[in-house]
Order: sequence, then structure tokens, then C-alpha cells
Amino acid sequence: MKKTLSQIQTKALSDLESVSSSSDLDQLKSQLLGKQSPITAILKEIPSLPLEKRAVIGRLANTIKQKLTAAIQDKYAEIEENQLSLQLGQTTTDTSLPHTAIPIGTLHPITQIITEVVSIFNRLGFSVKEGPDIESNDYNFDKLNIPKDHPARDMHDTFFIDTDTVLRTHTSPVQIRTLLAQDPPIRILAPGKVYRCDADASHSPVFHQVEGLYVDTQVTFADLKGTLTYFLHELFGPSKKVRFRPSYFPFTEPSAEVDVECMQCHGKGCGLCKQTGWLEILGAGLVNRNVFRSVDIDPNQFTGFAFGMGIERIAMLKYNIPDIKLFYDNNVQFLSQF
Ligand code: DAH
Repeated sequence: MKKTLSQIQTKALSDLESVSSSSDLDQLKSQLLGKQSPITAILKEIPSLPLEKRAVIGRLANTIKQKLTAAIQDKYAEIEENQLSLQLGQTTTDTSLPHTAIPIGTLHPITQIITEVVSIFNRLGFSVKEGPDIESNDYNFDKLNIPKDHPARDMHDTFFIDTDTVLRTHTSPVQIRTLLAQDPPIRILAPGKVYRCDADASHSPVFHQVEGLYVDTQVTFADLKGTLTYFLHELFGPSKKVRFRPSYFPFTEPSAEVDVECMQCHGKGCGLCKQTGWLEILGAGLVNRNVFRSVDIDPNQFTGFAFGMGIERIAMLKYNIPDIKLFYDNNVQFLSQF
């Protein structure tokens, strides 16, 4: 019986040698160790052996069984490793090839100008405040001192949602929201989309504005001039001349329009500035006392200034872009210039 066991082991080990796939190994494993295997047969016979042989044969049979189990385990590992190196051998990586260039995106020019404007005013202590695009008539017009029959409403070709609700025609209603929500001192900047039924080369039905509001005790027109001059010099360069022209807005009194020396002709007069030498950039003024009253702030205690600017217009002037629609086409060639 010892001899049979030794033969079983020799044959099993040599059979294992010749196996090269895991499915063949599955099959061989059940032949060598399964219920029908010679080793199982011997283990079953052991109880019927004479007592003195039982221990010896039992130990030997178990040792062989363990050896075969271990050898089969090793064979599985070997087959797996062979397969892996075969696969790796088939795929070659040429590390000398140039890589495929990944195109890097750019920020949209409108985003860039908004970011720049915001960062200049951040340095002056202004923080960003946003309002909804869908706005009440009350905030968009009434509380800004634009009564129902006021001709100033004609300046804004409004998209109405219903009689009380509009797509905001300017970012000025964020002034109202801020004044209702917090007490002075207030220094905020409100960038966002605005909507008007208007479309030609310089008008789009949706465009961007940035609104500013500064309210405290004893804010004067000199503060407005100083702040906006600093801002325009930061944005367009310190050598640019800036001028303040008297104007009219219902929500400010007095009001001004702020011009910068034409960046194309440097003030001499050209097509861009319509021969005036100046480009209009901002609307501004001291907050109208009626606006303060509409939000229950005492105009004898607080004063302030406000301003608003169109971002597309600034970008068009700064980068000499002829048509506002170019901003919305998302043509990568156009956008990657900025
Ligand atoms: N809301 C004005 C517009 O859309 C721009 C403006 C002018 C805003 C003067 C202001 C301001 O805050 O003081 O045309």
C-alpha cells in the first residue's frame, strides 16, 4: 500500500507538470483529490486495515494529500502569472511617442471682465451680492423711483412674465434687496444677467451688468468720483482720462455718466468713439432720497452712491469686438483669443 501511495504521488506530480490551463487544472484537481480519486479510495480503506498499519498508512496518505493540494495551489498561481506576462508581452508601450495635446480651455471674456471688476472692488471692501433674474415690478421699477407712468420705463424694453413680474431689465433691483436686508454701512457689487427686448450689433436680449452700491453716513459725490476714477484706472490703465457728465437716472440724484478716453484714438476722435474722443462706460449717481424712503432708510441719516455698467460693452471696447453676438456663439476660435 505504501508503494501504491508513492506511485499515486509520482503520477500526480508528473500530471501536474503537463497542465498549462486553469480549466485543465480544474479537471485534474478533481481527478487527484475528488471523491473518485485513488487517494480518497485509500483513505476510505484505512478503517478496515489492521491496527498496526492504520496509523502509518493514514499519516502517509494525509501527507500526500496535503502535498498534492499545495502543488495544485502553486500550479494555479503559476498559470495565472504566465497568462499575465503573456498579456503584457503582447501590449507594447512606446514611451518615445509624443503625447496627444489636451486642449486647455479659457474663461469666457465676459467672465474675465466680471472677475476683474469684482476683484478691483474687492480691494475697496465691496463684496458680491446676487439677485434673481425674475424680479418683481416693484423692485425692478417702483422702489427705484421709476413710477408706473414714468418715461424712464421706456428706456427699458421689458420682458413681462405677468403684470407684477418681469425679467429684470437691470441689476439695480439688487440695490433694493440689499437695502431691505441689511443696515448700512453697505458696500456691495452685484454682477448678473439682465434682459431687454432689443437686438442689433450692439444689443442682445440678454446681457450682463455689474451694479455697485455704497451707503454710509456722509457719503458724498467726491467719494463717488474718487472710487470710480480709481476703478477705471485699474481697468483701463492709469493714464486714461476719465470724465463725469451730468445725466439723469430716476434712482440717483444727482446722476452722471462716466466716460473714459477712447482707447483706440486716445482722445483724437475715431469711428469707435463717434469722433468724440470719449467712450461712455458707467451710469452713476448719489442714491435718490426717494429710494431710501422706499426701503425705510432715513435719507437724513444716510447717503450713498450707486453705479451700473454693461459688461459686454466694456469687453467690446477693451478687445475691439465688433458684434455683441460673438459672445454667445461659443466659437472656440473666437473665445481662445482671450
Ligand atoms: N440701471 C441703469 C441701466 O441699466 C444703470 C445705472 C445707472 C445703475 C446709474 C446705477 C446708477 O446704479 O446709479 O441703465
